[in-house]
Amino acid sequence: MSEKLIELGKKAAAEKAVEENVKPNMILGIGSGSTVVYAVNKIAEMNKEKDLNLKCIPTSYQSYKLIIENGLNLVSLDQFPVIDLDIDGADEIDKNLNLIKGGGGCLVQEKIVASNSKKFIIIADFRKVSKNLGENWKKGVPIEVIPMAHVPITRKLQKLGGKPVLRMAQSKSGPLITDNGNFIIDVDFGIINNPSELNDKILPIPGVVDTGLFLNMAFKAYIGQEDGKIVILKK
Ligand code: 5RP
Repeated sequence: MSEKLIELGKKAAAEKAVEENVKPNMILGIGSGSTVVYAVNKIAEMNKEKDLNLKCIPTSYQSYKLIIENGLNLVSLDQFPVIDLDIDGADEIDKNLNLIKGGGGCLVQEKIVASNSKKFIIIADFRKVSKNLGENWKKGVPIEVIPMAHVPITRKLQKLGGKPVLRMAQSKSGPLITDNGNFIIDVDFGIINNPSELNDKILPIPGVVDTGLFLNMAFKAYIGQEDGKIVILKK
């Protein structure tokens, strides 16, 4: 699949989602990843044409910088704990709009922001959609963990039937450190038939901060196709 068609799909989805959903005076959650960059560019373009008085809450260091670099108004959850709209990408989207997120390592803040948003919208390209989670996204479910607990957590994840791999940093020896100072374990569970049951088994393990399973959270997904058209999936 050509990179150019993938980028076309991401851009089309992001721009359509912004055009249809971003309104003046909104408190916005800004997701993370490469697709979100197109959304923020579009928001900034609309905001330059006419000041929309938006307030943006980041979900990572990446989106914090994106907000600032695009001249948008950066605020925090402390100031605005109820968000009107959160726009974010995903690594996989199933038929019920359940998601795997965290490919970019930002799942914890992404889930906090999404869970405090009245509307949570996904933007993605055509490669991300599948019937069941685990079908297309083969890198496993990202799980953020407290560093000193990663070995016992790994053993417990194996007992749950997963194949855990500690995510390593790039251009630095050792594990990747998240924006929250934690590690990420990517766990391949194969095809996940019951994501809710799996999530319920992982979350209580001491030292698990959160999982990249975003269940019953998104209400709409804009999926950009190879030809630049958009398919909208709804709950
Ligand atoms: C980061 C995420 C991203 O939203 C997800 O990885 C999708 O990224 P991209 O838009 O680059 O495909 O969950 O933690």
